[in-house]
Amino acid sequence: MKYNFDEITDRSNTACVKYDLRNLFFGTEEVLPMWVADMDFRTPDFIMDAIRKRAEHEVLGYSIRPDSYFTSLTAWLMRRHQWAVDRQWIAFSPGIVPAVNMAVLAFSQRRDRIIVQPPVYFPFFDAVKKHGRKLVYNQLIMENGRYRMDFEDLEKHCREGAAMIILSNPHNPGGNAWTREELRKLADLCNRYGVLMVSDEIHSDLVNRGYRHTVLAGLSPETAANTVTMVAPSKTFNLAGMATSSVIISNPLLMKKFRKVLDALHIEMGNLFGNIASEAAYTHGDAWLEQLLDYIDGNIRLLMDFADKRLPQVKVIRPEATYMAWLDFSATGMNQHELKTFVIEKAGLGLNEGPQFGPGGEGYMRMNLACPRATLQKALEQLEAGFKGKIADV
Ligand SMILES: Cc1ncc(COP(=O)(O)O)c(C=O)c1O
Repeated sequence: MKYNFDEITDRSNTACVKYDLRNLFFGTEEVLPMWVADMDFRTPDFIMDAIRKRAEHEVLGYSIRPDSYFTSLTAWLMRRHQWAVDRQWIAFSPGIVPAVNMAVLAFSQRRDRIIVQPPVYFPFFDAVKKHGRKLVYNQLIMENGRYRMDFEDLEKHCREGAAMIILSNPHNPGGNAWTREELRKLADLCNRYGVLMVSDEIHSDLVNRGYRHTVLAGLSPETAANTVTMVAPSKTFNLAGMATSSVIISNPLLMKKFRKVLDALHIEMGNLFGNIASEAAYTHGDAWLEQLLDYIDGNIRLLMDFADKRLPQVKVIRPEATYMAWLDFSATGMNQHELKTFVIEKAGLGLNEGPQFGPGGEGYMRMNLACPRATLQKALEQLEAGFKGKIADV
C-alpha cells in the first residue's frame, strides 16, 4: 500500500499541543507550528483499525499486555536493529521522560553527579535537578556542521565520580546518529569508571537515509550490563498521545532496582489503547516506516536545497537521524530576543528556541520537518520573506 504523506490534516482544535498551545508558547495563533516533536501525518490504517476493533468491544476495564505485545516488540528490535532482547528485560513506562526520571531515582542518590551532553533534549536537565542530583555538562562540540563528543572532558567527569550519563542516541536536537566508534569510546570510558549509561533511543527507528542506528547495549556484554535502554513507538509512528514506552535492562540487579521504583509508583498498568496501538505498529509498521523515511528524506533535501539557494543567513545542520533540523542563525547577528521576535513576528513560525536545549544552543532554532511537503515549502518561503522584511501571511 502506498501512503499519502502529502495529505494535509487540520489538527487545530483537537486539544493537541503543537497547534492548540500556540498562544501560550508564542503569544499568537498566527504561527505555522513546527516545534513540538510529533508529526502532522495521519496515524496509519493498521494502527487505527486495531484501535477501532478493540473499541468496538465497549468494555475498557483493567488490562494487561499479552504475550503478543512483547513478541511484537522483541521481533521489531531484532528485525530493525539486530538486537536480541529477552522478554524478561522489558519494563513498562508511560513515556521516556518518566523513564529517565525513574532511572535517576533508581540508580543514583541525592547529590550524585549525572552527566548530560548539551545542547540536548531539555527534560534531561530537570530529571537530574528536580531529584536533587548534580547536573554535569559534557558539552558537545560543533565541528564542520556536526556535533562531536568531547571524550577528554567526559573522562574527567567519569574520573571525578559521576554516577550516570544520560545519552540521547540518536541525538536531539543535533540529529547525530552516533556511530559505533563514538559509542564504543563512550562505553569504554563509562564501563572503566563504573558510570551507568542511560540510553534514550526513542528516535532510533528514525535514522535518515545513508545512516545507521547503533544500539548502545548491543556493543558488548559488558556494555549491556551497564546500560539501561529506552525505546518507544511514539516518535516512529506518531503515538505520543498513547503514552506507552519500554525500558530494556538485561542486568538483573539493575532491573530489580528499576522495578522497585516502577512498582512504588504503581503505573505499570499503562494504557489499554497504547498497548493495542504499539503492538499493531511493531507488527505491521515496516512498510509504512520505510515510506515515511523516504518522505522525510525528501523534506530534508528540500530544506537543504532551499537554504542553500535562498536562505544564506541560515546554516542548516543536516539531521542524520530524527525529523528535526537544527538551524544556526548566528550569522544574522541577532541576539536571542531579536531572533525569537523575528521568527514569530516576521517569519510567522513556531520553532523551538536553541537555549532551551542548554549551553551551546544560543543562536539556534529547532524546526520539525515531519509535515506535508507543502507545509515545509510554505514555512521556508515565510522565512525567506521575513528576511526580506515582509510580514508572513500565515
Ligand atoms: C530524546 C527524546 N526523549 C524523549 C522524548 C519524549 O518522550 P516521552 O514523550 O515518551 O516522555 C523526546 C520527545 O521529543 C525526545 O526527543
